[in-house]
Amino acid sequence: MLEVTDLHVNYGAVNAVHGVSFAAAVGKITVVLGANGAGKSTSLRAVAGFHKPRSGSVVLDGETITGLPAHKVVRRGMALVPEGRKIFFPLSVEENLRIGGYTASRSKVEKTMGEVYDTFPILKDRRHSAAGLLSGGEQQMLAFGRALMSQPRLMLMDEPSMGLAPTMVETVMASVKGMVDKGIGILMVEQNADAALELADTVVVVTRGETVWTGTAAQARSDKKIVHAMLGEAALDDA
Ligand SMILES: Nc1ncnc2c1ncn2[C@@H]1O[C@H](COP(=O)(O)OP(=O)(O)OP(=O)(O)O)[C@@H](O)[C@H]1O
Ligand SMILES: [Mg+2]
Repeated sequence: MLEVTDLHVNYGAVNAVHGVSFAAAVGKITVVLGANGAGKSTSLRAVAGFHKPRSGSVVLDGETITGLPAHKVVRRGMALVPEGRKIFFPLSVEENLRIGGYTASRSKVEKTMGEVYDTFPILKDRRHSAAGLLSGGEQQMLAFGRALMSQPRLMLMDEPSMGLAPTMVETVMASVKGMVDKGIGILMVEQNADAALELADTVVVVTRGETVWTGTAAQARSDKKIVHAMLGEAALDDA
């Protein structure tokens, strides 16, 4: 269980996030919706230890981990799948996966890599290819696989469907569902609200650096107009 409360994050004098709260639980999907620049990525990066928050609290399974650096957050069982995937293009698929397992022992890395290959057979087929040669959807699976290498209980995903063709979005969302069914908890930022709402258990709307709405996915679906109004953008096709 992850509980983030009243997070504040600055970039120098710029207060990008001022009052973001959300939670995520094992075996559940929390979806964070919000317009461009709302502070979604900043919040995820701060929770994952890539940027120190100014204030607020991040509690993972009852332990406060606020401000802990990323490598320590990974050891506590939470991994970030970053915006834009951040794959190392010149490295092979397998080398990218090994980077995700950098906190684990060698024997554990081999075992976990086998599990990742079982989950994403395409990565096994392409394991010696340069990662830059993969399609966008395959690169997203590699980004998932790299995060899975640390055997997380919770994964933070920043716009996994970004830039993908609609059929690929479906494939990526199906693999997200597969990870949840295996008992991983997921907190996912998505601009593709329709695809995300189909999977979500809980929905959080972030507007201008603040959490302004939290509810169940059913409430968000029936309240599409409200969510739409808060996003301020045409993020929902038929709202
Ligand atoms: N490195 C940075 N330095 C200064 N300001 C930044 C930096 N990164 C982001 N910001 C600002 O912080 C605010 C939040 O940005 P953030 O990237 O978290 O938003 P987002 O919700 O993820 O947006 P998007 O949907 O476009 O990914 C924006 O006003 C942005 O311009
Ligand atoms: Mg972002």
